[in-house]
Amino acid sequence: MISKAYSAGLFGIDGYLVTVECHSTRNLSCFEIVGLPDNAIKEAKERVKAAAINSKLPFPQKEIIVNLAPADKRKEGSSFDLAILVSILLNGEIFSKPEALDECCFIGELSLSGDVRRVNGVLCMASAAKNAGKKKLFVPLENVREASALRDIEVYGVRNVTQLVNHFNEVDKIAPVVGGLDDSEKSPAYPDFSDVMGQAAVRRATEIAAAGGHNMLLIGPPGTGKSMIAKRIPSILPEMTFDESIETTKIHSVSGILPEGVSLIRERPFRAPHHTMSAPALVGGGKIPVPGEVSLASNGVLFLDELPEFNRQVTESLRQPLEDGKITITRAAGRITYPCRFMLVAAMNPCKCGYFGHPTRPCTCKKEEIKKYVSKISGPLLDRVDIQIEVSSLNYDEISKKQEAESSFSIRQRVNSARKIMQARFENDTTEAGAKITCNAQMESKHLRKYCALSPECSALMERAFTALGLSARGHDRILRLARTIADLGGSKDIMPQHLAEAIGLRSLDKKYFN
Ligand SMILES: Nc1ncnc2c1ncn2[C@@H]1O[C@H](COP(=O)(O)OP(=O)(O)OP(=O)(O)O)[C@@H](O)[C@H]1O
Ligand SMILES: [Mg+2]
Repeated sequence: MISKAYSAGLFGIDGYLVTVECHSTRNLSCFEIVGLPDNAIKEAKERVKAAAINSKLPFPQKEIIVNLAPADKRKEGSSFDLAILVSILLNGEIFSKPEALDECCFIGELSLSGDVRRVNGVLCMASAAKNAGKKKLFVPLENVREASALRDIEVYGVRNVTQLVNHFNEVDKIAPVVGGLDDSEKSPAYPDFSDVMGQAAVRRATEIAAAGGHNMLLIGPPGTGKSMIAKRIPSILPEMTFDESIETTKIHSVSGILPEGVSLIRERPFRAPHHTMSAPALVGGGKIPVPGEVSLASNGVLFLDELPEFNRQVTESLRQPLEDGKITITRAAGRITYPCRFMLVAAMNPCKCGYFGHPTRPCTCKKEEIKKYVSKISGPLLDRVDIQIEVSSLNYDEISKKQEAESSFSIRQRVNSARKIMQARFENDTTEAGAKITCNAQMESKHLRKYCALSPECSALMERAFTALGLSARGHDRILRLARTIADLGGSKDIMPQHLAEAIGLRSLDKKYFN
């Protein structure tokens, strides 16, 4: 006899429906799992058997063969345990109405005692089950909140195997969650911009960067507020769209770092890895490729503090993700693509002693030392940074001001309205490139011709800057995007000369420090 139960597998952040077929014959006690399983799945045999016996469910003393279809996809992890057990129980005719299980999908790891344990990537698998037409989803109790984020599939939280069997045999029904749970995720308490004194130019640049999703480098002497400002960026970032929320939640779910009790991540991620990190930790990797910091920061901010302290190989590995917004990792297990559309924020001192270019304190570094220090940041990487801004020392008047500076709340309102203008521009764009655009930094070259057209006056200004700053074609395009954001913040339909001039000004620092 052959029985079938359904589960879902993971490939990157994409799930796919898995049919778990169980075949049993003769009175032999033998149990095999086929269909490209990894070691964790091979061990499922022991877990499933022990869970059934300890839950006082009859485990057939027969030759059992379980097949995970499609068999050409390598399966990994322990999330198939529950579906494997269900398929075996179906074979043993435990359920009073076996046909009721056809529209269900089962996800979860089993403990030896029969408890159902939480697994990673439930949101991705749940969405695959929904797309494959499944109506009911049985997941570990701890994963219910996450799975219910989808809203249009019935989600059942299962504590243990006995409870599941009782549910289907109508002894004791589990109440489903439909339409999502109340979202208890509170906005994390990010520090506020009202703490930052002075630094008007940097505050303005940060607002522009947040509005358009532009990359930004803060450079200046120690103790001027670089790290302080960067850590306050999440407090002024615009709200995530639903699709962005789902994407970010999927990435965090696959990585197993989704905070407990959170169904959907609503705040943009802010990732600040330490400078001792490795390249695979930054861009993703491992035998079974897992997302790196660039993907965990997707739709949010990747903050690299003390940029020159990072290993050069590590920072160089950012070049491709910064350009493409996605990263493909190839391993024996296959090629996996993770999204990584993040805003890069980096901070650094201009030299080892930190005071090069300081108006009053002399720099004690030798010329070669300064050169060596800044040369850790390559030209191509710098070329991908739209805003390079100097954070200069504060004078006493600025520090001792009694008045609070403008709050994050009020800055965020301007950022939000600018972002709405950007999104409205691409609202009806059905092309593959246009449909995904949520901010100006993501516009492609063809969009620039349409939305960043320059007047003759602006063109002349751009030409002068292009020659004077020795800009690359990429630099030229990045200035156009930046000018578009400045115009959007100002509510202007066209890019005016003052918008373009400000954009050029925000990019001209490399001459001072890097040449
Ligand atoms: N603009 C500012 N307004 C208010 N406080 C400030 C400002 N700048 C610096 N401070 C104070 O100095 C502390 C150190 O600032 P921060 O860590 O941001 O410096 P930094 O520029 O990152 O220095 P470093 O180059 O050494 O990393 C802050 O925690 C804050 O107390
Ligand atoms: Mg710092």
